[in-house]
Amino acid sequence: MKTIHDFLRAKEEGKKITMISTYDYWSARLCEKAEIDCILVGDSVGMVVNGLDTTLPVTVDEMIYHAKAVRRGAPDTFIVVDMPFLSYQVKKEDAVYNAGRIMKETGCNAVKIEGGEEVAEVIQKLVSVGIPVMGHLGLTPQSVHALGGYKVQGKTEEEQKRILRDAKILEQAGVFAVVLEAVPSKLAKEITEFLEVPTIGIGAGKETDGQVLVFHDMLGFFDRSPKFVKRYMEGGRLIKEALKNFKKEVQEGIFPGKEHTYD
Ligand code: KIV
Ligand code: NA
Repeated sequence: MKTIHDFLRAKEEGKKITMISTYDYWSARLCEKAEIDCILVGDSVGMVVNGLDTTLPVTVDEMIYHAKAVRRGAPDTFIVVDMPFLSYQVKKEDAVYNAGRIMKETGCNAVKIEGGEEVAEVIQKLVSVGIPVMGHLGLTPQSVHALGGYKVQGKTEEEQKRILRDAKILEQAGVFAVVLEAVPSKLAKEITEFLEVPTIGIGAGKETDGQVLVFHDMLGFFDRSPKFVKRYMEGGRLIKEALKNFKKEVQEGIFPGKEHTYD
């Protein structure tokens, strides 16, 4: 099992970190067999698995349910669990309670929190009670309504300054890594060079210390995907073909064959 120190060392040694967002037993098992460095049980589960428009409705209990399944599928992989909207913004005490529950009930190794300066105190508190925290800057989907959509962040110089400043604040607060989502590669490079802790990019170019993609996106389960997603297979097409084949073979009396039948 990797530890937070392994991720720091990876950065020092210039070894890229790989992370995949996924939410259940079978996919976590495959990630572990493929030796992916880190699994993120993302609150993107709400959109990817449950068809919501945003991540806002996702609850702590739902995150725990999915993280437990992921841990069963990947017993030896470093697992980070997203703290969902409203589970850490109200009070530090709530954040400790919710993050503590997530750690206790799922056996994960760390939590992830979206935001910069405004969550620095919460991060400090969590780290002080022994909970490793991953930060998340740039496009922070829990703030989609405030951002006015899922858009690239850090386009203006002012925004870039703020994001860089937030990154420094997060490092000081004690995060062991930071996700950079949908920011120009130049900004991601600058942050990556400045920070001692690793950056993990999604839509942030190739200069970050690692890359994260959502399992269902990178395997092409959906018809369309954003620019920053590379589709490593056309999973949706393959599955649809298999399903059609099943229907056809049942209708034509081909399935089940003799080899699938008990005498
Ligand atoms: O929820 C998620 O999957 C994430 C990653 C895309 C970074 O936060
Ligand atoms: Na997330």
